Amino acid sequence: MKVGLFDSGLGGLTVLNAIAKTLKGAEIFYIADTLYAPYGDKNKDEIFSRCDKITEFLLENFGIDALVVACNTATSIIIKHLREKFPFLIIIGIEPGIKPAINSSRNGNIGILATSSTLKGEKYRLLVDELKKEHEINLYEQACVGLVQQIELGETSTLKTYEMLENWLKPMLHNHVDTIVLGCTHYPLVKKTIKDIMGEDVVLIDTGEAIAKRLIALSQNAGHINEGDLDILILYTGEINSKMVKIILRRNKFEIRKCEI
Ligand code: DGL
Repeated sequence: MKVGLFDSGLGGLTVLNAIAKTLKGAEIFYIADTLYAPYGDKNKDEIFSRCDKITEFLLENFGIDALVVACNTATSIIIKHLREKFPFLIIIGIEPGIKPAINSSRNGNIGILATSSTLKGEKYRLLVDELKKEHEINLYEQACVGLVQQIELGETSTLKTYEMLENWLKPMLHNHVDTIVLGCTHYPLVKKTIKDIMGEDVVLIDTGEAIAKRLIALSQNAGHINEGDLDILILYTGEINSKMVKIILRRNKFEIRKCEI
């Protein structure tokens, strides 16, 4: 089984980490599209074209059998197109985990942190409208402009990052939010800072594990035998904070190099 994953930068590594805990006997190819990061403030056409090119690259160079779009922003823009264009590929996208948040929340006050592009996306809006009809919930949405850049710099717990998050989370604290959806794959990297502000009891919903389960189920359906070693290759298109990569993937062996896409 050859699995391709991509994101604008380090964020998708949180998904890779979850996958690496359970997937065996596979090769993983991860693209950090740092030359074009962050995706959150790019226009739709630009993100669309990058994701299309990256998928072609993964197919041509590595012959992937499965693709994980390890980015909420990209998923909301490109997933439909990728499924139409590559019907032979197993394709898994990532969406803010609002349903698991509804199941976990005790008071129905739920915070959603994502990029503004994800929050404005049609897919997200439709999901929210549907869920609001079915459940008594109050959703507090917050676009975290600039947070991805802080994380890419390795500033997951600096004063600046704390203050940015505090500014966004204060209204949630005030509104007794008990569950927060991490609607961008970068945000699990600031879980600790979020807990420092919201308190230990806040439940943080990150969908990495669910994606890993789905990937294994679909791979096994396609004949994959989940045994043996995992080979991980990390490629990046611009610059990368390799210290952060080592910290995030500390439990895994991997190779890392620059590539042109
Ligand atoms: N990790 C991303 C996401 O899940 C991309 C964020 C960005 O590049 O702005 O949305």
